[in-house]
Amino acid sequence: MTQKQDTAIILAIESSCDDTAAAVIKDSKILANIVASQTLHGEYGGVIPELAGRAHQQYIMPVVQQALEKAQVKLNEVSAIAYTRGPGLMGSLLVGSHFAKGMALALDIPTIGVHHLEAHVAAHYLQEKLPGFPFLCLLVSGGHTQILLVEDYLKMRIIGSTRDDAAGEAFDKTAKMLGLPYPGGPLVDKLAEEGNPKAFEFPKSKMEAYDYSFSGLKTALLYFLNKQKKDDPDFVEKHLRDICASMRYTIVETLIHQFEKAALDLGIKTVGIAGGVSANRLLRKSFEEMAQKHQWRSMIPAFEYCTDNAAMIAIAGHYKYLNSEFGRLDDLPFAR
Ligand code: KG4
Ligand code: ZN
Repeated sequence: MTQKQDTAIILAIESSCDDTAAAVIKDSKILANIVASQTLHGEYGGVIPELAGRAHQQYIMPVVQQALEKAQVKLNEVSAIAYTRGPGLMGSLLVGSHFAKGMALALDIPTIGVHHLEAHVAAHYLQEKLPGFPFLCLLVSGGHTQILLVEDYLKMRIIGSTRDDAAGEAFDKTAKMLGLPYPGGPLVDKLAEEGNPKAFEFPKSKMEAYDYSFSGLKTALLYFLNKQKKDDPDFVEKHLRDICASMRYTIVETLIHQFEKAALDLGIKTVGIAGGVSANRLLRKSFEEMAQKHQWRSMIPAFEYCTDNAAMIAIAGHYKYLNSEFGRLDDLPFAR
């Protein structure tokens, strides 16, 4: 196999859920970051794994080609291929990992299997000013909600996590109950901008330590809507923006409350958010305000690095490359 190069060019592939993405990184600088979002799931109200796998097969080649063209990098210049090994949908992960391994074998270069959640955190290393360690990261995605103590680039410990639904799920289920299409998070966020966050009061779960729970909130919304719709069948239509604003406010307040407690208890002064829900406008604003209040350094990734993307896989791959943490051809993807 080709020797490790000093100036590494890494091609990265992300295919864990419903976005097919490829990126090219040289040292730690992103040269290309392409995402093809699968819009076909919208009409089904959620991601259909079978369809996602097939769409990845269709998209992966053109997306990789586009990334290499944009980066102006030739295949024979690539030093290693990083790919998402898990967690995610098995069928989707298999498409990315097979593609990465096949290409690496043909080019005689190593593969680097990357953990999807570690990569969300690694999005912070794409910024100019690198964080000092340790820092505390609120990871909020469609499947996970965790408070992570990040001790080194790819070394992190779970301090708290959700006992049931993830924050992204809470947003998506809110959208579904309101008759909005999948993925509902961005839409709830948009509608909430024009609503009153104090219009309706929903329960904020109070978990021990630094854990979260969002399933009670979902049930509370369901009962609330059923009751209101009995009196007025057009209730949702009339109050859509206020409901979105009130739910967003409740979710964000809950996220911030536990995180702030953890950071204070641990005496951490550098904090960040990561994952799809970190694109949420109120969360970004509230997180910044919390950090300012305590004079903490806050790290909020650019929008394109919050939701699933391959640039984060590339930068995580970059640090694994430096440690010579290469994969094997018989490495299997993991769903959980
Ligand atoms: O990290 P991500 O792209 O995929 C996973 O790894 O799960 O996160 C997707 C989640 C979805 O639940 C989506 O609704 C949510 O992030 N999301 C948002 C926003 N943008 C994406 N939730 C609230 N507000 C947003 N602006
Ligand atoms: Zn993700």
